[in-house]
Amino acid sequence: MVTLPSIPATTLIYNDWYPAMRSDLLRGKKMQAVMLMGIPMVLGRREDGRIFAMRDACPHRGIPLSDGWFDGKNVTCKYHGWAFEPCSGQCTAIPSLTSQDTLDPNRIFAGAFPCEERDGYAWVYVPEPGSGRVRAGADLVPVPELPKFSERFRSAWLTADLPCNVDHGIIGLMDPAHGPFVHQSWWWRRAASIHEKEKHFEPIPQGFRMSAHAPSGNSAPYKLLGVYGEPITTTIDFVLPNRRYETIRCGPKWFSSLTTVTPTTANACRIDVYAAWNVFYHVPFVLPVAKFFGKRFVEQDRLTMVQQAEGLRWEPSLMLIDDADRPAKWYFALKQARLDGQPERHPMSGPVTLRWRS
Ligand code: FES
Ligand SMILES: [Fe+2]
Repeated sequence: MVTLPSIPATTLIYNDWYPAMRSDLLRGKKMQAVMLMGIPMVLGRREDGRIFAMRDACPHRGIPLSDGWFDGKNVTCKYHGWAFEPCSGQCTAIPSLTSQDTLDPNRIFAGAFPCEERDGYAWVYVPEPGSGRVRAGADLVPVPELPKFSERFRSAWLTADLPCNVDHGIIGLMDPAHGPFVHQSWWWRRAASIHEKEKHFEPIPQGFRMSAHAPSGNSAPYKLLGVYGEPITTTIDFVLPNRRYETIRCGPKWFSSLTTVTPTTANACRIDVYAAWNVFYHVPFVLPVAKFFGKRFVEQDRLTMVQQAEGLRWEPSLMLIDDADRPAKWYFALKQARLDGQPERHPMSGPVTLRWRS
């Protein structure tokens, strides 16, 4: 048997929120096991509606808690029946203790992570490993949320597992030059439609913004918005650790999406796209049609990354070129600054204009 070298592992950014899974899957007394940031987790919903995320390992002897039972209040380990309150992780019962024992179960904690529901996702706060338990009421960075610009809107989501580390997932997401090749199709754009582009970027905290601009005329979905006869502007923000916000506005009409690339392990990630809009609100079939095209689009990226992972197994040396890969360079510099504990250090000193053909 030949052992193949693995894809080089990435470093992970801790002390932030990551989407673990869609929260509508957390129903009744069912627990769900997921991998997030290389940590096996078990998620569920208490009977009062609050969702929780625990490390999927009993602190007694390590068996996954997801193999045990959940009654809507406590998670019970299947091995020796220790019970835990799942939001705090606090042990509430150790059945084997006698009246002679002095051990106080309440002083024992299973791993539990802050967990919040937003936009239909269970967001989990993952602290630096070894930094101890995050206490209730701790002052954490805000839970990410998709910006919406009206009361009424429609929404949809998409997800795909990517067999590459989070860095390749993210730079693939912000890469402007792959569009005409990976996403070529009659309804999006053709390789023959490649032309020179000039885009303006500016630094924002922990990221960068592609400033408001009229979107490229060769993308069919944008042409649809033209029917409203108002100027269309698009803003795309990338924010550490893994978020891409896109906002398209056309008078009172808007489309907004939040795309995240989340490390499931050190060498695999998952892309999640959540979008909301009030364009064509009353037109039937827009939702299924949008989902259909969105799925095709993400599938094209996913397939490309499956193929890329094949190439990366052999650890080739790689390149980032100007200007098309400059956003990727900014990403790596921002990430390094954050890992160095200097999140305010920014690779951009001011607005920058980039040019490429796509
Ligand atoms: S391993 Fe969980 S109670 Fe013993
Ligand atoms: Fe893509």
